[in-house]
Amino acid sequence: MNETVLVELPGSVSLGRRLATRLGVERLELEHRRFPDEEWYLRLTGACADRDVVLAAGLVRCDAKLLPLLFAADLLRELGARRLTLVAPYLPYMRQDARFQAGEAVTSRSFAKLLSATVDMLVTLDPHLHRYRHLEDIYAIPTQTLHAAPLLAEWIKSAVTAPLLVGPDAESEQWVAEVARLAAAPYVVLDKVRHGDSDVAVTVPDVRRWRGHSPVLVDDIISTARTMIEAVRELVHRGLPPPVCVGVHAVFSGDAYAALRLAGAARIVTTNAIEHESNAIDTTELLAKALEEPREA
Ligand code: R5P
Repeated sequence: MNETVLVELPGSVSLGRRLATRLGVERLELEHRRFPDEEWYLRLTGACADRDVVLAAGLVRCDAKLLPLLFAADLLRELGARRLTLVAPYLPYMRQDARFQAGEAVTSRSFAKLLSATVDMLVTLDPHLHRYRHLEDIYAIPTQTLHAAPLLAEWIKSAVTAPLLVGPDAESEQWVAEVARLAAAPYVVLDKVRHGDSDVAVTVPDVRRWRGHSPVLVDDIISTARTMIEAVRELVHRGLPPPVCVGVHAVFSGDAYAALRLAGAARIVTTNAIEHESNAIDTTELLAKALEEPREA
């Protein structure tokens, strides 16, 4: 990666530092501030001409981060950068993947168009692929989709005795089944009906035969945490011990984290794809390897 430099977006310092250190590449600082009218000022310190650039971006709650991303990409190109690879461990705007009601914006597609016009390649971790099978369904640039399942399985094996993996809904089966296989543990999948953003109902199948096990709920995103909260309640109600909750992306909107703890989760563990106090699983190596050996997917 000799010809590569790394630039992180405002607010992504820790991600940028971790990746640059692991990759052994130079980190160019993107000086930034807001003018009094809140417009952005950006200045790149250091040389990017004729070098590939890794743009590191934590994109949770991304609306305020998008303009700096577009400006930074433009700036880098104007200053002669070669290929721009965006590393966004959390890929936002993936959940509105259909027009559920007439007139709705399918924001996943619009967002994909925007990023595809901005960078040359995208590396991300467990994007919410539900109605889309691959990112290529909506992204026009090469993408690399990485999976946290081996890291989750490793953590579960080391921290939980006799785990029973639990997927809170049908969508989660894709990663729960894989984590269970890697952790050599059984798994069950619950049934979820979402009535609104913060209103979900979860149905648990017969789990009597798993009473000697420790339930471990696994999901890709924990946002309002209503999915996890309802699942924790239902599992405990069925006589299982308080579950450990494992999520890839610690979105935790509003008071979601406190509410999940209050609901009786035995422990809440996430990856550092999004920085949060619940992070216990490091994704740096996974991301760095993908950048060292890019695959044009
Ligand atoms: C389903 O769409 C996802 O896989 C997660 O289950 C969902 O994002 C969790 O959302 P919340 O924490 O708001 O219930």
